Amino acid sequence: MNGPRVLAIDQGTTNTKVLIVGPDGAVLARASAPLTTSYPQSGWAEQSAEALWASVQGAIAEAVAGLAPGLGVDAIAIANQRETLVLWDAVTHKPLCPAMIWQCRRTADDCAALAATGVGPAVEAATGLGLNPLFPATKLAWALRNIPTVAAAQDAGRLRAGTVDAWLLWNLTGGAAHATDHSNASRTLLFDTRTLSFSPELAAIFGVRVDCLPQPLPSDSLFGVTAAGATALPAGVPIQAMMGDSHAALYGHGVRSPGAVKATYGTGSSLMTLTPGRVTSSHGLSGTIGWTDRTGTAYALEGNITVSAQAAAFMAKILGFEDARALSVFAQSVPDAGGVTFVPALAGLGAPHWNDAARGTLTGMSHATGPAHLARATFEAIAQQIADVFEAMQADIGHPLAALSADGGASGNDFLMQLQADLIGRPVQVAALEEVGAMGVAAMAMAALGHALPLAAPKPPFEPALKPADRAQLRRSWAHAIAQASLPA
Ligand code: G3P
Repeated sequence: MNGPRVLAIDQGTTNTKVLIVGPDGAVLARASAPLTTSYPQSGWAEQSAEALWASVQGAIAEAVAGLAPGLGVDAIAIANQRETLVLWDAVTHKPLCPAMIWQCRRTADDCAALAATGVGPAVEAATGLGLNPLFPATKLAWALRNIPTVAAAQDAGRLRAGTVDAWLLWNLTGGAAHATDHSNASRTLLFDTRTLSFSPELAAIFGVRVDCLPQPLPSDSLFGVTAAGATALPAGVPIQAMMGDSHAALYGHGVRSPGAVKATYGTGSSLMTLTPGRVTSSHGLSGTIGWTDRTGTAYALEGNITVSAQAAAFMAKILGFEDARALSVFAQSVPDAGGVTFVPALAGLGAPHWNDAARGTLTGMSHATGPAHLARATFEAIAQQIADVFEAMQADIGHPLAALSADGGASGNDFLMQLQADLIGRPVQVAALEEVGAMGVAAMAMAALGHALPLAAPKPPFEPALKPADRAQLRRSWAHAIAQASLPA
């Protein structure tokens, strides 16, 4: 098939993946590079912005080296972890501090103080988002107050701020472009989704300025071209699409209109569905922008779960297993969790509960409890959190959702996907390709270049098999455990 080849970057919290996608959807080369997160204090989460960029350079070099001789890349597309704030100096191109990642809760008190002033409803009306440390606005304000070099860079007009898409674009273009796409911008608490612009009024509420922020552009824009020497790619390759990873996954599932919902099983999880227009949630979700492209702006409803598949890695470490895969095998050695419920509120609780003070909790243990029950309770917790958001989404849109589309690393775990179908009482359709976000943003770049990328159909669905009464019992125990985890320490 004739058409463009797109190098798609999926820059996630635990690793960076790169796919080179052919015009027929074939993956011509792939590479990945791991990333580490540091947790210097309870509730804080940071990554090195330099390591983040180096992981992208490394994965691009490996993928390009894996491409058959004579083949080139026509465009770049970027899907990225969202809400992570990078601050850098426009002159030196160096980060001014570690990236404060989306999981970082250091501004929880600032958000509470802002909420006490009564600005929450006006902020939510403009952005669709509640006041929460997940979003970058309060992180930027915190950095300006606490890091003298950041304040000095702002005074000198050298401060550049952005989410990971903007940081990668800056580096890919050698500092020629400082831009973001509307989906990433809509996750900052500074972007008015009614006007599609960063708002000076919102910035004033948070005590920041908009002049350090990137230019917000439609997701299928020509964002810039590669600079010579920035990566293993030649100069002049266009960066033709950018989207937050969750948004790219929805696009990669082939969703173009309201009706379908997807869940991405990453470090955290995100459920997203398109809505007929802008919505404000009444059930603990966020109104957001799916993407903006030449067909218009796709509005969406989203629920973010702070710790999702990462809970399995955490419990694997606690129980002495090599990884989540080994834990999953062990979890299946018991038929149920023996009444144990684990709430993995390791960094507070996200949607729909939004409680930064919540912490991980185990309930229902007895003398009969063994490590396999804890392992099983961990996988049930991943599925229970998704079920909470799935139900909140149904309540917000006012009608039942027929099925759930799944993607991300942990969606390859059949045991978890069956638990998921059982706990939502709906079929779960798993994407044929784990990297559906990378494929989604590649599809958008190809659409911008005038080519329709064929997307693979999902695998056969997992059908719910649990008796409704058993499901209701598990959901009740879970609600009880969530209440326990949310109690003040
Ligand atoms: O909202 C945060 C999300 O975009 C992070 O995604 O794949 O790194 O868990 P992931």
